[in-house]
Amino acid sequence: TKRWPSQEGAALTEAELNEAAALLAAGGTVAFPTETVYGLGADARSSEAVEQVFRAKGRPSDNPLIVHIAGMEQLVGLVRPLNETELRLAERFWPGPLTLVLRALPGSVSPRVTAGLDTVAVRMPDHEVALRLIRAAGCPVAAPSANRSGRPSPTAARHVQEDLAGRISGIVDGGPTGVGLESTVAECAGPGSVRILRPGGVTPEQLRAAGFDVQLEAAPAGGHADPELAFQTGRDALEGAGGPGSAPRSPGMKYAHYAPRGEMRLVAGPRERVRATIQAAADEARGHGRRVGILAYEETADAYRADIVLACGSLAALETAAQSLYAVLREFDERGAELIWAEGCPPDGIGLALMNRLSKAAGGRVELLD
Ligand code: TXA
Ligand code: MG
Repeated sequence: TKRWPSQEGAALTEAELNEAAALLAAGGTVAFPTETVYGLGADARSSEAVEQVFRAKGRPSDNPLIVHIAGMEQLVGLVRPLNETELRLAERFWPGPLTLVLRALPGSVSPRVTAGLDTVAVRMPDHEVALRLIRAAGCPVAAPSANRSGRPSPTAARHVQEDLAGRISGIVDGGPTGVGLESTVAECAGPGSVRILRPGGVTPEQLRAAGFDVQLEAAPAGGHADPELAFQTGRDALEGAGGPGSAPRSPGMKYAHYAPRGEMRLVAGPRERVRATIQAAADEARGHGRRVGILAYEETADAYRADIVLACGSLAALETAAQSLYAVLREFDERGAELIWAEGCPPDGIGLALMNRLSKAAGGRVELLD
């Protein structure tokens, strides 16, 4: 596995970027930074290249990949012409952390990318290195997050190294990523309306502020019938897309994901009740000799006693929690946490995506307190 820049801490040169792009264009697998998380890229037109991505990650092959482009002109030949709503979404949010599920042009990308669907998920990342790399490679770049399947997504080049060294052609190090959680996956749900299939970097509030109606895909199992209420209480985020019995429209949502090795549990609700519940459970587990981690926030971490207490950013600025979540989950692994209790956060703004990833990392072991 090559690494650019070859000297740690040095600036990425044009020659190095071109070398990475040439490897991509020749069918290699190259990890690169985006504004959300690191992606593992391959030429989306080449089934052999895309196959290498699935193999390196150990990813189930029925989970389709996002195709990354560097300019609107790359949509030609890739998807059917965008409707007005899709065009407005792209104009407003690209480059940026919004992935649009669009109607694919048959034969435009490998069927391994779309997992046989007649749609293709497309996004234009808001990251200079990613855009330059895609442009230099001269092809649409299929890229899932550059982690071993099921592990927390990589927000720094060293995370990619930990998971995939020796399994991929190269890693472009562009420093830590910005948003820290994956893009929002969405599709047009009628004129002026957008359906969120996976919450992410672009929030429902931002979509609404841009004049779009927003629907959330999840049917809240055992939750509220009123989708707006469900959204406000975050039950959608907790259930993930598709409640029991409903086929998820974004296939990736059905897998255990983003998880640390220790078994995680998520507790959400009024702050004092959450604190008391987590502390009691942690005390009991430690009484049985287990090594216990607690994931809290800057405002709440000091109140806990456990083997490993980590603050993942601030409740007052959930963007900071989004930025550090995956690195914090990896740190629990490094420090040998066997059981982890995580505090929930309000599902507002980026908090919706955070709660979604936390509940996925908890494998659905979620306790909602009133
Ligand atoms: O921020 C991101 O989106 C990162 C960076 C690297 O761009 N990528 C990423 O890819 O998160 P991945 O493979 O980890 O997640 C792709 C998600 C999955 O949930 C997948 O099911 C969904 O996008 N997806 C892909 N194609 C789709 C399609 N045609 N229809 C519905 N969902 C699709
Ligand atoms: Mg992923």
